[in-house]
Amino acid sequence: MTLAGKRVLLVVSGGIAAYKALELIRLLRAAGCGVTCVLSRSAAQFVTKLSLQALSESRTYDDLFSLTDESEMGHIQLSRAADLLVVAPASADLLARMAAGMADDLASTVLLATDKPVLVAPAMNVRMWQHEATVANMALLAARGVRVVGPEEGPMACNEFGPGRLAEPPAILAAIAALLVPAAGPLAGRHALVTSGPTHEPIDPVRYIANRSSGRQGHAIAAALAALGARVSLVSGPVGVPDPPGVTVIRVETAQQMLAASLAALPADIAVCAAAVADWRVASAAGRKIKKTPGAPPPALELVANPDILATLSAPGPTRPRLVVGFAAETDALAENAAAKRARKGCDWIVANDVSPATGIMGGEENSVHLITATGAEDWPRLPKSDVARRLAARIAAALA
Ligand SMILES: Cc1cc2nc3c(=O)[nH]c(=O)nc-3n(C[C@H](O)[C@H](O)[C@H](O)COP(=O)(O)O)c2cc1C
Repeated sequence: MTLAGKRVLLVVSGGIAAYKALELIRLLRAAGCGVTCVLSRSAAQFVTKLSLQALSESRTYDDLFSLTDESEMGHIQLSRAADLLVVAPASADLLARMAAGMADDLASTVLLATDKPVLVAPAMNVRMWQHEATVANMALLAARGVRVVGPEEGPMACNEFGPGRLAEPPAILAAIAALLVPAAGPLAGRHALVTSGPTHEPIDPVRYIANRSSGRQGHAIAAALAALGARVSLVSGPVGVPDPPGVTVIRVETAQQMLAASLAALPADIAVCAAAVADWRVASAAGRKIKKTPGAPPPALELVANPDILATLSAPGPTRPRLVVGFAAETDALAENAAAKRARKGCDWIVANDVSPATGIMGGEENSVHLITATGAEDWPRLPKSDVARRLAARIAAALA
């Protein structure tokens, strides 16, 4: 891969994963990319300016109030001189300052002053990543067009396990390359919104209602659309599958969050609703763990309907995507139920699949689908989910051509 002639401004913030920024710089330089580094106010606690300067072969900046640099409005120049701003690692604190529009150190100031795209690679403790404040900050940043790579799930420096690990430098490099050298293809210049995975509807702080969706099909569709050149926003429920390269992933838990994130991602040319959204949620989730009291009857769960994301995106209006594709997971009367769903929801196409336990499709590696359009139904052979995704993406590209 070559990034010759491209320039990245790498903002390193104050997290334990800051040492991995050094490897990222090495990979970027090996790809021919120019790198200039900016340290956030705490980053020097974790990595030295000397190392960043040596590896980037360029001066590293950390002082907003430098008399020398500011004689030429250095912070504005820094924010504009690169093709892309990359924050790796992105600490919870710097993400919060970005979301709030703060400019209280050189890093946050260049991120606020820039007119260039921004990619963040968050890295933090799992509880910090899952805190409502961070979730809300990430949703806000994604809605403003900030691209995200990672974090990954795995063991952490703090001896906990979960999502929050910095994406590996090669994955960050791939995300950078996807932004700097956009894939040419029939969907170049198009924006696709894809939903994927299950939703988790809380009962109390520790229990939730979920389903068996793995996210494999939705994630494969996001990857296939990106491979054809589309800019893809993937709104994903909790899944264990890796982020597709070059795709902006917006992580959510509940159906209500998925709807809000999907609407925030509009306008889009294409919407593919592959997520298995819970139809119902618990009317009032308990704020504390529901205790099992000996002799007492089990709690009764009152359910209320969740918002209908497919119907909402399909409704006529100025932001309706040109092509809206829904998924129907059925166990009985597949074709009839799917055709009825297409009419009821107002979407353009339905991809119907038989999720009876015997098919092994729910959570499995393969899928056997029927594509229902306004003109009829096509039966596709049983295929790996990645092949279903490629075939669907090619159909979408042909429909929009
Ligand atoms: C040893 C140590 C490790 C830390 N690791 C992280 C981390 O991985 N991610 C994070 O968001 N904050 C981490 N923090 C907290 C941040 O350093 C702190 O929030 C700091 O204010 C962030 O500054 P920044 O905005 O310059 O990034 C860590 C703190 C310490 C003391």
